[in-house]
Amino acid sequence: MKNKKITIKDVAKRSGVSIATVSQILNGNDQKFSPKTVEKVLAAKAELHYEPDYFARRMIMKKSKTIGVLVPDITNPFFSTLVRGIEGVLYRENFVTMLCNADLDTKKETDYLEELSRRGVDGYIIASSAISNRAINETLRKKNFPYIVLDQKKAEGFSDAVLTDDFSGGNMAAEHLKQFGHQRVAVVLPENATENIQTRLIGFQTVYPDAVLIYAKMSKKGGRQAAKAVVETDVTAVFAINDELAFGLYLGFAELGKKIPQDYSVIGYDNVDMCEYVTPQLTTIAQPIYELGQTTAGLLLERVERPEKDWEEKTLPVQLIKRFSTAHLK
Ligand code: RIB
Repeated sequence: MKNKKITIKDVAKRSGVSIATVSQILNGNDQKFSPKTVEKVLAAKAELHYEPDYFARRMIMKKSKTIGVLVPDITNPFFSTLVRGIEGVLYRENFVTMLCNADLDTKKETDYLEELSRRGVDGYIIASSAISNRAINETLRKKNFPYIVLDQKKAEGFSDAVLTDDFSGGNMAAEHLKQFGHQRVAVVLPENATENIQTRLIGFQTVYPDAVLIYAKMSKKGGRQAAKAVVETDVTAVFAINDELAFGLYLGFAELGKKIPQDYSVIGYDNVDMCEYVTPQLTTIAQPIYELGQTTAGLLLERVERPEKDWEEKTLPVQLIKRFSTAHLK
């Protein structure tokens, strides 16, 4: 029959060995067979253009060589850079990255977690915060699936975690504005902020306990809309809790005839690529985003290999990147 799918049975028949032998050799366990047998199987595979069935392989090896990655918003350059760091390590170790973008939707996150478990991924990387720990418990922990949390999702004492030093980051942003003489400042941040964002604010408030809080969606659109609320206050500087909000403030202030840094000093957080391409270039707190992804992927692969190892939590440092969106108070 033309175009009949070549199966492992055809390879076994062509090479004159059992299906089990072919399976072992094609899954890398050829050391217990003679070189002649291995050569016959590989030749038959090549002649028949046989490709092992992905899901059949998983049934035999109990490994899919696939890692599920759940992020809240892939349109945010922080998460796209994070995923690049994750994917680079997974690719190097011959794992496939199965990316799920939750669009900040709790139901979507829970659905994705269920679907990933049905697809037999070997481990999970969870950067989303909307999914509850109960859902993670039910879907992953009780079934002993290896997983790691990072960024917006905190470890609850039963998973590995990679964090960044949000408290120091918020404090650095405040100290920078203080050194420039700003007394009245605002913070633009989302309502019901995730724990890492709240920690950033707490670090900032150690210097500015009376900072004006202006709530906005953590996006360029949110920052643009927040500009109006800022100009209605007496502040001279703004801490945007992430760079996307800062980029939105740039446009919002321009629409209101306000200049950066002449009218308002603006400091962001993340240090995404765009910071260097806006005018004036954005002063920000740099998170080691790519390294965060690499470290997370590395820790998860260790967990996949050694499920019994002790829980590990790492915190990566952040740093102030001075550019031209902040200036001394006149
Ligand atoms: O820009 C996205 C923000 O949310 C970043 O600061 C990151 O830490 C995430 O929590």
